Amino acid sequence: MIGIFDSGVGGMTVAKAVEKLLPDYHIVYFGDLARTPYGSKSPETIIDYARQNTEFLLSKGARIIIIACNSAASVSFDVLRSEYDVPIFEVITPAVQRAVWVSAESGNDKIGVIGTRATIKSGVYERLIKEMLPAASVYSEPCPMLVPLVEEGWLGKQETKMIIRRYLAPLKKKMVQSLVLGCTHYPLLKGLIHPRIGKRVAIIDSSEEVATALREYLKNNTSLANELARDSEHYYYVSDFTEAAQAIADRIFERKILLQKVTHF
Ligand code: DGL
Repeated sequence: MIGIFDSGVGGMTVAKAVEKLLPDYHIVYFGDLARTPYGSKSPETIIDYARQNTEFLLSKGARIIIIACNSAASVSFDVLRSEYDVPIFEVITPAVQRAVWVSAESGNDKIGVIGTRATIKSGVYERLIKEMLPAASVYSEPCPMLVPLVEEGWLGKQETKMIIRRYLAPLKKKMVQSLVLGCTHYPLLKGLIHPRIGKRVAIIDSSEEVATALREYLKNNTSLANELARDSEHYYYVSDFTEAAQAIADRIFERKILLQKVTHF
């Protein structure tokens, strides 16, 4: 099984992308709705939650883990990788690789990154981009209000559009060539973000990038790929249930999703 976790429903954009690229594989998802958002919490707390989420997914039979939350990945990736003996993927590295590729193709290395406060404060995008492309100019903006707007389902509201315009204004001024959606909630706002940053800007969606990276990994690791269950059954667990989360889950997958609440994990 492929185990995927996020602080809430945002990581479902990753689960959807994985489902699309690897339709035969079994997915187990955990959304920590009871403790969302992670983006405003301290690294110590987020690492603790990430460990518990990983343990839960492993207990359900996951053989691969995807940290489908930038806030969690930015502070817990190295810890999880050193503590667990299963392949661990995260949403940041594949998105960075893509952004660097876009820069190389276009000859313009101005890269914008948006994310939660925890992700932007960690400096992880800037560090990784600079490692791969030292000449890059990275402009980052924390957008703390976007996750609650998505969780509330305010996807097409005027207020959401205004807030996005405000957050993107400094990046627009810098004339970035690509914009990394450094939060797995943001693909749900892609249709509002793209026209506001400018249609010529390449939008980098980490959910698609990590799914592609996983597909490549499985192609090269056939023994693990063969061991993974292939009956395309999926399980969606949450640590709290809300109507709003249900509505967003159904909207992301474009079908009815059974969210199962777990209290001990
Ligand atoms: N989906 C999470 C991320 O990618 C953000 C939500 C949160 O802050 O909990 O960063």
